[in-house]
Amino acid sequence: MPRYTLPAIVLHWLLALLIISAFALGVTMVDIPGLTPTKLRYFSWHKWLGVTVLALACLRLLWRLAHRPPAYPSAMPGWQQKSAKLLHGLLYVLIFAVPISGYFYSLAAGVPVVYLGVLPLPVLMEPSPEWKPVLKQVHYSFNMVLLGAFILHVGAALKHQFIDRDGVFKRILP
Ligand code: HEM
Repeated sequence: MPRYTLPAIVLHWLLALLIISAFALGVTMVDIPGLTPTKLRYFSWHKWLGVTVLALACLRLLWRLAHRPPAYPSAMPGWQQKSAKLLHGLLYVLIFAVPISGYFYSLAAGVPVVYLGVLPLPVLMEPSPEWKPVLKQVHYSFNMVLLGAFILHVGAALKHQFIDRDGVFKRILP
């Protein structure tokens, strides 16, 4: 069974870990009432995680454009192969759309991002009371689409592993 390349495997699991952490921190931090030091710290960590996701997503896309993934087993029905490609395409879009929307939301809210507290990142828009609620909603909505796509993605992986037993899931394991 052909496998993914090692950089593709490493980037897949690293991104999975960082995205799950950013998501969990995101839903936790917004539920903290008031503006406590802990909440502000979580916001910073959330942004740093998200910016790291964006940087790794760029690397991942470049690697993907230069390296085709292994072909699906011929026994896999055409509609499943098409849906898998569509879902993977959507996940690629979301690993950019989610952090970029968060980044612009932060700028619209008037809080430029200082990566890891040392590296000021480009201020690509002025603070904007009009755009702030729109971008907040966009960031939230992209996250809900990401959650749905993630559930389908994990569900499909488990089906390959335990129902089809076709070795597809093993191709992305280290
Ligand atoms: C993979 C990357 C990211 C994920 C998975 C993610 C996920 C989330 C989630 C789940 C929430 C909670 C939404 C809610 O329940 O209202 C949230 C909120 C937030 N995110 Fe992200 N985010 C990411 C990247 C970023 C980045 C890069 C920034 C900014 C640089 C950012 C800034 C924010 C801010 C400021 C909030 C708080 C929204 C509010 O004020 O209620 N996020 N994020």
